[in-house]
Amino acid sequence: MKRPIIGILTWRRGHTFAEPRYFRQLIRAGRRLGCTVFLFSPRDVHAARREVNGFVPNGRGGWSESSFPWPDVVIDRYRYSPTEAFRQYAAFRRKKLFRYANNRLANKWKVHRLLMRDERMHRWLPESRRYDADQLRRMAARYPVLYVKPVNGTGGRGILRIERNQDGYLLLGRDRERAKRAVRLRRLTALTRHVDRWVNKGFFMIQQGLRLQLIPQRAVDMRLLIQKDETGQWQITGHGIRIGGERSATSNLHGGGRAADSGRFLQARFGAEKTQAILAECEALAFQTAETVEHHFGRMLELGLDIGIDEDGRVWLIEINPKPGREILKELGKTQQYRRAIQRPLQYAMHVARAKSEV
Ligand SMILES: Nc1ncnc2c1ncn2[C@@H]1O[C@H](COP(=O)(O)OP(=O)(O)O)[C@@H](O)[C@H]1O
Ligand SMILES: [Mg+2]
Repeated sequence: MKRPIIGILTWRRGHTFAEPRYFRQLIRAGRRLGCTVFLFSPRDVHAARREVNGFVPNGRGGWSESSFPWPDVVIDRYRYSPTEAFRQYAAFRRKKLFRYANNRLANKWKVHRLLMRDERMHRWLPESRRYDADQLRRMAARYPVLYVKPVNGTGGRGILRIERNQDGYLLLGRDRERAKRAVRLRRLTALTRHVDRWVNKGFFMIQQGLRLQLIPQRAVDMRLLIQKDETGQWQITGHGIRIGGERSATSNLHGGGRAADSGRFLQARFGAEKTQAILAECEALAFQTAETVEHHFGRMLELGLDIGIDEDGRVWLIEINPKPGREILKELGKTQQYRRAIQRPLQYAMHVARAKSEV
């Protein structure tokens, strides 16, 4: 078979790309694996000519632009942002011009509802509702801690943690710019008024708050990366614990969190035997989630799972990221896993390209 051509769909403005460091590594890995990899954005596609205007590193720290043949497979790496450019991408993506290695996921609320249809997922899903003031009152009566989050949020933006205590409610949030905010309110009416303002008619969900303070006063959870390999099988590439900043409702690394080795961290808290069981359950959760997600959304390439491990060692699925980062592996010094995390999407894309040339 001829050398596979793999396009990476992403955001760009001029020669500025969304994730330049990752893309340089991806293109370099492609060369070693024997495929051609280039970057492009929606406006670079000339469907009538079956050509794509593509970008590769020029060896001087910049990018060179040239015309590429129609890619055999496209990896969609266009990440969400609340912009006009993203809306145009979404419309472009619906045209299905290419064979994509990965489909898109729906918003968090829709994903939750679809996962709930699968009995096998139930034990890992925190109770969740679409936000409105009534649901907030009901959930606030049922759970001492709640999370209110935008269904399209990323990186911890727009998330509000509500904790009920003796004198009322303590709210800890991150606004759209990820700045931390703390508020104390005494009454339920003040709470609903405040949260209504926070939500500001947007589309939010309310979730049962998990007790994730494995370190006092900090949000701790796991990020796990599950990817397809060169034969199309799901494999767990690696994982790590994220420890949120002080007085932060979230653990996200970009929001001030730091990384720790999962095994070591969990053993210090739960002991060796229980840690084994927890890690085995995290893996079972990951394989089941990948299967259920593909059942509803079609072919996927990789998923970054945010997994909650609560103070009793119970395992929960917090979020599924279809275009995940892999920095946590690098931060933990897991060089081998990090390298694999970069190679695997290309190896799987090559597998898809081969399968196509055989039919
Ligand atoms: N229901 C919850 N209970 C406890 N902590 C939560 C809950 N939901 C989110 N968090 C914390 O907030 C972080 C960000 O939430 P997440 O749903 O992953 O949104 P984002 O897309 O912004 O990353 C999680 O990694 C976790 O630390
Ligand atoms: Mg997350």
